[in-house]
Amino acid sequence: MAESDHLLDLQHLKTYFYTFEGVARAVDDVSFFLDPGEVLGIVGESGCGKSVTAQSIMRLIPQPPGKIVEGRILFDGRDLVRLSMGEMRGIRGNRIAMIFQEPMTSLNPVYTIGNQISEMFRLHMGLGRREGLNRAVEMLKKVQIPAPEKRVGEYPHQLSGGMRQRAMIAMALACDPEILIADEPTTALDVTVQAQILDLMLKLKEDFDTAIMMITHDLGVIAEIARRVVVMYAGRIVEEAETVPLFEDPKHPYTQGLLRSIPKLGRRGAGERTRLVEIKGIVPGLLDLPEGCRFSPRCPQVMGICRKKDPPLGRIGPGRTVRCWLYFDEPGKD
Ligand SMILES: Nc1ncnc2c1ncn2[C@@H]1O[C@H](COP(=O)(O)OP(=O)(O)OP(=O)(O)O)[C@@H](O)[C@H]1O
Ligand code: SF4
Ligand SMILES: [Mg+2]
Repeated sequence: MAESDHLLDLQHLKTYFYTFEGVARAVDDVSFFLDPGEVLGIVGESGCGKSVTAQSIMRLIPQPPGKIVEGRILFDGRDLVRLSMGEMRGIRGNRIAMIFQEPMTSLNPVYTIGNQISEMFRLHMGLGRREGLNRAVEMLKKVQIPAPEKRVGEYPHQLSGGMRQRAMIAMALACDPEILIADEPTTALDVTVQAQILDLMLKLKEDFDTAIMMITHDLGVIAEIARRVVVMYAGRIVEEAETVPLFEDPKHPYTQGLLRSIPKLGRRGAGERTRLVEIKGIVPGLLDLPEGCRFSPRCPQVMGICRKKDPPLGRIGPGRTVRCWLYFDEPGKD
């Protein structure tokens, strides 16, 4: 039995893609944990490995070309990396559920919303058809879909984007999972609906006591919902901290850049929120990573050592880690 004090414990996870052009190290030695009932934010620009991390936990990496090559994903005394697909089916959707950016990727267009939610109850809890449908109506009520008795008989295309997202949340929470992985759940929605969905998720977290891993580009979302934050860059964690200290005193130059790119924190109204403005320069291709620190080509504080040697991810305070030479001594640093 694999021991961990945490609900979910990723240890040195490496997920690579073997393509004709070379090996893309999409997740490259990533470790973090999630405790019961907490909200952890995972933030970073496009392509930094957020979704691949989530798909690794769910064991949804397409193989080939992808493969979890190293590391452990401990959940309830078991290493998910080592489970058979059959064992994983008992966990996926039941104890660990995921919601996606675009609801149509997880809602099946040819089945009614009610059918799809009640399927969760039938599959994982062994409920009959009628009972499953009754529970589906209850779930639609919980995610505040008006006229749930009517909506339960409708198909995904008959719902608005925000409604579909609510239906997907209902489906994800149907079996009362211990962990909900939300991969950009609000990005495709307009600002007002985004705010409503976030409020709903926070409320449901209280009701269901679900731990949430919230993946997003948007530091505004993190500020609102997460207690702790993991910042990713080019397949690696570059900083980890509780949300308030991270916002007040970001340590990594990349995090500092991300924070500078949002005009106002904490308060947001319609139109005030923006997606992250890209920091100068572009994220390096995973097949073409620079020598030394992966952020060095874009870093305003780059030093000699940065281009030669990869900085370690080191601890700089309680619950705080950073991957940057500014905080560590190394012979030859200039
Ligand atoms: N099926 C695949 N085949 C080959 N490479 C892949 C595949 N899926 C992901 N990758 C590689 O993994 C990298 C990280 O992808 P990932 O989807 O995790 O990024 P992300 O951080 O979720 O970005 P975004 O914010 O755009 O969703 C990609 O840039 C790509 O190089
Ligand atoms: S290690 Fe160097 S290049 Fe990398 S983030 Fe720190 S200062 Fe910038
Ligand atoms: Mg993604």
